[in-house]
Amino acid sequence: MKGKLDHLAIIMDGNGRWALQRGLRRSDGHKAGAETAVRIAEHASERGIRFLTLYCFSTENWKRPIEEVSFLMGLFTSGFRENLKSISAKGFRILHLGRRQGLSDNVLSALDEAVSSTAMNTGMTIQLALNYGGEDEIERAISSAAEAGEKTLSCSTLMRYLDNPEVPPPDFIVRSGGEKRLSGFLLLQSSYAEIGFYDKLWPDWDENMIDKIISDFQKRDRRFGGLV
Ligand code: IPE
Ligand code: IPE
Ligand code: MG
Repeated sequence: MKGKLDHLAIIMDGNGRWALQRGLRRSDGHKAGAETAVRIAEHASERGIRFLTLYCFSTENWKRPIEEVSFLMGLFTSGFRENLKSISAKGFRILHLGRRQGLSDNVLSALDEAVSSTAMNTGMTIQLALNYGGEDEIERAISSAAEAGEKTLSCSTLMRYLDNPEVPPPDFIVRSGGEKRLSGFLLLQSSYAEIGFYDKLWPDWDENMIDKIISDFQKRDRRFGGLV
């Protein structure tokens, strides 16, 4: 079964290696990676993608040196503020995916502003997976469902308590930087997603990669357990 690529989810990996290969600091790689994310979002929207999920920071990324974590948090805060006008002008809607607890007030207020001021937009939805872990999302969903008095925790019930239950599951999960793993990304939502691994490091991605991804997806044969 051939379907349209409606929801693309990206594990944006390889910023550090990109910088080190150029004799730069890892933080320079993150800066370049953030610029790539803005460009890729524009290309994805132009190509008709309706949902874009970007893995920005995992619940495991706190293990990194404090300097790198602080740089990244500053980059998220300034990135949301600096790009908010153009994000809004393009009609993008921003959603947060992940755990609020652990994020600083600065990050949360910039993020909340981006979410609330774009809430009525009708263009592409961008889910920012920030302080995100698939296990963490499932554990929080179980707690919320139990608090709401759900008696049976079936998977379909649980799905209603995920962070953004209105967002459809990803059609295609892709990872830059060559590693072949999901690193906790969208554990429950990925059950029938197509998966693709690309060697190109994240800061080197451009619109040709979006075209390649769309064309790779169109070659996939999705059967969802059936025969056709
Ligand atoms: C991805 O790039 C960005 C984040 C995880 C925040 P990395 O920082 O993991 O880059 P590599 O994998 O070390 O090259
Ligand atoms: C995954 O990349 C998380 C993000 C891209 C935000 P990592 O670089 O943290 O993943 P591992 O450590 O290689 O699995
Ligand atoms: Mg990495």
